[in-house]
Order: sequence, then C-alpha cells, then structure tokens
Amino acid sequence: MSAKPIPHVPPDGESHYFEDPTVRSDPVVVDVTLPDTAFTMETDTGVFSRGHLDAGTTFLLRSEVPLASRGDVLDLGAGSGAIALAMARRSPGATVWALDVNRRARELCRRNAARNHLDNIRVAAPADVPDDVRFTTIWSNPPIRIGKPALHTLLLTWLGRLTDDGTATLVVQKHLGADSLQRWLDSAGHHTDRIASKSGFRLLAVMPAPIGSTTGSAPDD
Ligand SMILES: C[S@@+](CC[C@H](N)C(=O)[O-])C[C@H]1O[C@@H](n2cnc3c(N)ncnc32)[C@H](O)[C@@H]1O
Repeated sequence: MSAKPIPHVPPDGESHYFEDPTVRSDPVVVDVTLPDTAFTMETDTGVFSRGHLDAGTTFLLRSEVPLASRGDVLDLGAGSGAIALAMARRSPGATVWALDVNRRARELCRRNAARNHLDNIRVAAPADVPDDVRFTTIWSNPPIRIGKPALHTLLLTWLGRLTDDGTATLVVQKHLGADSLQRWLDSAGHHTDRIASKSGFRLLAVMPAPIGSTTGSAPDD
C-alpha cells in the first residue's frame, strides 16, 4: 500500500508526517534520563526524532509543568512516546492517551509502553478516542510543519476537549512561529501564557476557551 499523506504535508519529504511511512524500518533504542525518572525507548526511521530525545521535548519534560494525577491526559502527536511515557510514570493514576496519525509511531509507542511496564498508556489514532473523553492535561510537541491551517484545526480540536480546569502545555520553537501561535491561540479564545523560554524554545500554557466563546474563528496571521 502506498503511503497516505495527511493534509498539508510539507514538500521536504518529512516522512514522519505520513500515516504509513514507506522508508525501511531501522530501529534504535535510546536511554532517556530525566531528573525524576528514566526509561529506554525504541525509535525508528519514519518517526520524529529517531535516535535521540528531541531538544524541545527535553525542555518540556524537564520543566515543572502541571500534570493531573488522575483522569484522562493526552500526549498530542506522541511519536515514539517519550512524553506519554513520562506522563504515565509521573501520574500512575491517570490514563495517558498517546495520539498519533503515524501508524509506525503508534506501534513504537505501544512497544515502548510495554518495555517500560506502563499499563496506563492508551495508544490511539485520532478517530479512536471516544467522543466523551475530556482531558485534564494535554502536553504536546505539536507538528508545526504540517502548516498553519492543519495545525490550527488540530489544536482547536483537541484543546476543545480540555476539562474546564484543564491546561495544555505546548513546546514550540521561536523560529517556527511560537509567538504568532501564542497570539493566534489567544485570539481563538484560548488564553495562552508563555511560561518558559530557553535555547529558542517556548513553553506555552493554554487554557480552555470559555463556554460560549467563538473558538475556531480566529484569523490566520
Ligand atoms: C514534533 S513530533 C513530536 C513527537 C513526540 N511527541 C516527541 O516529542 O518526540 C509531532 C508528531 O505529531 C504527529 N502528528 C501529525 N499530524 C497529526 C495529527 N493530525 N494528529 C495527531 N498526530 C499528528 C506526527 O506524526 C508526529 O509524530
């Protein structure tokens, strides 16, 4: 079967944005050490950040950002699962949804949950999350390179599923538009604060849109 691109795939052949990467699998195991925990994880070609933990993801996981201890929490765009694994370790009482369009990423993430004995991770394609699930925490290193229209749709879809007291934390590179994304989220009704900044990365804390706000109508900038 040929690889099926998701909308707005960039023209530079970044195959980890495809649902089914065609590049030959070539897995590499990496050790991830954080201040409070450590795990090993398999990474692969065709999936974001093969062979290392991405610098932005590292920044997010080393920052003390809020994480609910219970309920449903989300790693939006989980890749091989580093964020989901850390969430599951830190909040064993929560159900961690690891969401990705990329089938190879989902398979890796399932294997990584198993190899680290984390049974509170649910790996899913976007369509597999039941409509009534709401998230107390969302963490994401979002797929900026899918382009603004697709990214905005993706974010509004999942931010719209935060609980009333939930928070999302996004890590975004400044040169990939972190500041304009922050302004856009604000204008879409999601109050957004920059809570940290380091080495060209921003951490954005995003609140749920107030009930009755016109989420989704913000202009592209
Ligand atoms: C920047 S990578 C981050 C991967 C991983 N969380 C990490 O930190 O290494 C973004 C991920 O979003 C996924 N993605 C792209 N479009 C998506 C969509 N519409 N829904 C869910 N995931 C998507 C990509 O496949 C990719 O794995």
